[in-house]
Amino acid sequence: MKKIGSVLVAVLFLMVLLFQQALAQSTSATKQTASVIISPTTTSLTNIIPKPVSVKEAPGEFIFYRNTIIETPASLLHAKQLLQSQLSNYNFAANKQGTTIKYILAGSADKIAKEGYTITIAPNAIVVKAKNIQGALLATNTLVQIQLLQKNAQQIPCGTIIDSPRFEYRGMHMDVSRNFYPISFIKKYLDIMALYKFNTFHWHLTDGPGWRLQINSYPKLTSMAAFRTHNDWKSWWNNERKYLSEGDPNAYGGYYTQVQAKDIVAYASARGITVIPEIEMPGHSEEVLAAYPELSCSGKPYVNDVFCAGNEASFEFIEKVLTEVMAIFPSKYIHIGGDEAGKGAWKKCPKCQQRIKNESLKNEEELQSYLVKRVEKFLNKNNRNLLGWDEIIEGGLSPNATVMSWRGEKGGIQAANENHDVIMTPGGETYFDAYQNIPSSQPEAIGGYLPMKRVYNYNPIPAVLALDKQKYIKGTQGQLWSEYIPSTTHLEYMSFPRAIALSEVGWTPVENKNFDNFSSRLQSHYLLLQKLNVNYYRPSTIVEVFSAPDMNEQKNKISFTSEIFNANIRYTIDGSTPSINSLKYEQPFYVGGEVTIKASVITNDGVVHEPTTYFSNYHKAIGKKVKFNTLWDKSYPAQTESTLTNGIIGSITYSDKQWLGYLIDFDVVVDMDSITPLNKIGLRFMQYVGAGVYMPKSVSYSFSDDGINFSTPIKIENNIPDTERKLSFKTFESSFTNTSTRYIRVQADNSRRQFLFTDEVIVN
Ligand code: ACM
Repeated sequence: MKKIGSVLVAVLFLMVLLFQQALAQSTSATKQTASVIISPTTTSLTNIIPKPVSVKEAPGEFIFYRNTIIETPASLLHAKQLLQSQLSNYNFAANKQGTTIKYILAGSADKIAKEGYTITIAPNAIVVKAKNIQGALLATNTLVQIQLLQKNAQQIPCGTIIDSPRFEYRGMHMDVSRNFYPISFIKKYLDIMALYKFNTFHWHLTDGPGWRLQINSYPKLTSMAAFRTHNDWKSWWNNERKYLSEGDPNAYGGYYTQVQAKDIVAYASARGITVIPEIEMPGHSEEVLAAYPELSCSGKPYVNDVFCAGNEASFEFIEKVLTEVMAIFPSKYIHIGGDEAGKGAWKKCPKCQQRIKNESLKNEEELQSYLVKRVEKFLNKNNRNLLGWDEIIEGGLSPNATVMSWRGEKGGIQAANENHDVIMTPGGETYFDAYQNIPSSQPEAIGGYLPMKRVYNYNPIPAVLALDKQKYIKGTQGQLWSEYIPSTTHLEYMSFPRAIALSEVGWTPVENKNFDNFSSRLQSHYLLLQKLNVNYYRPSTIVEVFSAPDMNEQKNKISFTSEIFNANIRYTIDGSTPSINSLKYEQPFYVGGEVTIKASVITNDGVVHEPTTYFSNYHKAIGKKVKFNTLWDKSYPAQTESTLTNGIIGSITYSDKQWLGYLIDFDVVVDMDSITPLNKIGLRFMQYVGAGVYMPKSVSYSFSDDGINFSTPIKIENNIPDTERKLSFKTFESSFTNTSTRYIRVQADNSRRQFLFTDEVIVN
């Protein structure tokens, strides 16, 4: 199955190449007959992403010819080879005068940073200066991108680029365990990464749903643990999670041979990218323990997911596997996972408990730390460094380890404060398996909400980190966990353009970053992605509505955004459907009281897209004090005391810090300051079963004029079933006539003791 797949991909790839060459030939044929009418229009150098430190344009164009001479000192030879291989994608005509591209090794007087470079493009010559091969490869990738941004790749505008990265680590991660992708695709992905100056490919090669790397000393890792009973991860996960042998009917899986993996290392290196392999331990190892059950605490297959840490055989396995891994991957870092290892089996295992005793460890967290420290010693002995997810901090961080901070930035901050290197990979900003738009508009994803803009605005240096600790933040990386990414085209969809936004986070000085400017440059990169046959996520025509209460105006200030560049947005405030003749959105505007707003994007073709409906309500409780009889859960404090009456309605994600999380009953009293006439009260909740967030059983309202004696509660029952898995919202609303009150007690029944998320008490 795997072979047919890769042959097909290879054939398709070849067809694309042939097509590109045919295109190039047809343009160059025109040129040969009339080389003087080369169009003067080129796409500006200022469209480069990530934005360089400095770009200056100059008159004229440089033209590539078949006989363009590339000169280089021996130490930068790989840059010349990369450029030559990229230019060979085109079939440019030769020219008598020719042009020259010269690579020069920069001296100390040149003031070029470690990975930095300068490019000077003049009509007959390009001069690239770099301190080392990394800088020269980055400069080459810039030239290749400039070419791809042109209508005609043969000519690029003249100018000068001075550039160097903000961070030394700029990574993209790929999980090939939950779903397996062929070598040809990995190469295509590396090509795109290189264009955007990523320098690290973090290859998540092993996990419960399949081991993906040939290991000669443990052949069952690939003959058995690389193949599973179900094609899609979700069915496998929900149906006993069994493995099959290679070639069994309906087996899904695959693996990379060591030769293939070495080929990827070389391919990446030629583009300036280091491949870091991740071999998971001690958890996420169900597949290893199914093939080699003697390495688990129970000694039985399909029981444990964590290596037995009391058994020397586990360490023998780890060291033998890592020895083969190190022979394939020359990276300074070897990633050992370390995340989400359940400690239950260790608690009951005599060998693990014996180890805890012998090593004078306090608990199972320290047992994990013992394992990680032992593996680190082994890696250090082999001149490698250990990299792991932030769980490796628990029980004590091993001496030279580098931490990937994924459970927010907390772990990264702690590690940096302990003088450890850190890669910032927080879930909320860098997990590209999250939805990139409203879930109902998207293919199923794992959950979470990460639109491109949020990625772009991420700053990997946390504000709380002291100046002298900031140097430990080495960079950032985008994660592609593949539970819900069954195909390479879907992987592209989840990656781009978010990865392009992240490239600027990792590269560009903060003071040069600007989302509107990035969006404008991105337009020409959509075209670039089309040329490379990348199935990127298209900008959505959905209008996002933002509302902020203005206490002076006693109104809400409404603004709209859309992912469509310079969108033509039309809107209504009378509940009617927007048309081409409705009010055109030019700037934020104010509305008071209760108003139904509908806003649509109108595209170039005159199509009025599905409107977003927003109920604006500048209500009476805005700004009023709330007394909390029961407190929110520490993990979801939103805006603490002000959340429920700040006039800001929570969005579709509880990570927007407007949703207050409760694991107990909800009970608050709103003080309206004086006796106030009441028409309506509502309390809004979210249900998102996948994340363990449910509606309350009921919501009750009671009233008091003295804050002590309350009326009999009015109770509103929930009518959204637990089985509703779609993201849902409900306002528990009650209407009143001839009622006035000062204090309103609001209670919500959480006898289920799952999370409740509420954003606002709305009083009209
Ligand atoms: C992780 O997402 N478990 C690192």
